Amino acid sequence: MQAWPRHKAPRQTWHDAGMSSAFTDLCRYPIVQAPMAGGASTPQLVAAVSEAGGLGCLAAGYKTADGMYQEIKQVRGLTSRPFGVNLFMPQPEYADPAAVEVYRNQLAGEATWYETQLGETDGKRDDGYEAKLAILLDDPVPLVSFTFGCPTREVVQAFDRAGTRTVVTVTTPEEAQAAQRAGADAVCVQGIEAGGHQGTHRDNPETDSAGLGLLSLITQVREAVQLPVVAAGGLMRGGQIAAVLAAGADLAQLGTAFLVTPESGAQPLHKQAMTNPLFVHTELTRAFSGRPARGLVNRFMREHGPYAPAAYPQVHYLTAGLRKAAAKAGDPQAMALWAGQGHRLARELPAAQLMEVLVAELDEAKAAFAARGAE
Ligand SMILES: Cc1cc2nc3c(=O)[nH]c(=O)nc-3n(C[C@H](O)[C@H](O)[C@H](O)COP(=O)(O)O)c2cc1C
Repeated sequence: MQAWPRHKAPRQTWHDAGMSSAFTDLCRYPIVQAPMAGGASTPQLVAAVSEAGGLGCLAAGYKTADGMYQEIKQVRGLTSRPFGVNLFMPQPEYADPAAVEVYRNQLAGEATWYETQLGETDGKRDDGYEAKLAILLDDPVPLVSFTFGCPTREVVQAFDRAGTRTVVTVTTPEEAQAAQRAGADAVCVQGIEAGGHQGTHRDNPETDSAGLGLLSLITQVREAVQLPVVAAGGLMRGGQIAAVLAAGADLAQLGTAFLVTPESGAQPLHKQAMTNPLFVHTELTRAFSGRPARGLVNRFMREHGPYAPAAYPQVHYLTAGLRKAAAKAGDPQAMALWAGQGHRLARELPAAQLMEVLVAELDEAKAAFAARGAE
């Protein structure tokens, strides 16, 4: 695989070159399908996006190392185009076990209602990180991204030697600096608008209301580090992709937009909820996992969000059975309906067609921008 250009050349902007030279060998269009743990980013979705000229990404989070590897093999069977794999960083052991037990008692009525058990919360803090690294280094994929923390220099260097590009999710300029110090090839700048978990390196309840909007964050990160930027959060239309590229991003990463495609493995109730007028807005909550994640506001979030402890992934495992039981009962009010702020703009198109529409909208926005510049 061709080496990632090491940020020495002057950076081109999207209106000079269509997209940054740093990514042109990975995808034809500056569109990344976000990795979505929990089942949405199936090998079929990843392959469809990569075949259509975007960059599809598998989510290894919550899977076993072997489960991850089986999905990689499936993608390879469906496409020869590049794709990415996303890893969760291991979590430090600072969650308060007593707070988790209090939350367990607070959720007892939910377990009775959905006729299920609350889950065990011991162990599982590392998400099989070392085993997944071993597989990815033994049989490399084109790109590996990390969330919930920053890999060590040694890990990044090992991927460099394997010819794999590394991307670290960041939510502040300081996290971007940490990614640069570790030697990462790029940062995925995740704005507060983003659906699903915030990829914050350390969950700190004291900074809960400090999350930055995407445009503000892209600019601050661009001024803090020299790395290529993948922008994520609330992007649903080609015009928005044009906007983040104009702001200095090299690629745009979309989750919610792809979650509703037929290739996505998200629960049908989750897909339907995106444009269901019953669910009018999103909020960040710790109710389901113990870490801030953005989802459609439902009963469970309203009732339990206010006192859910900062205890990830313990709370994720505590509520996993409950969420499954709610889905089985056809009740979206206790499911984790992860969604970005743009959810109402979701279009239920096959992934290849969605890619076509996004690219057409992007071209239109670029042409309009160029025409305005020529006036
Ligand atoms: C259902 C869902 C699951 C997600 N899972 C992951 C994940 O496993 N790893 C990750 O880095 N980001 C994950 N994200 C966040 C995305 O990478 C991305 O930041 C987000 O989708 C962008 O916002 P948008 O949904 O408004 O497009 C997830 C997002 C959603 C909606």
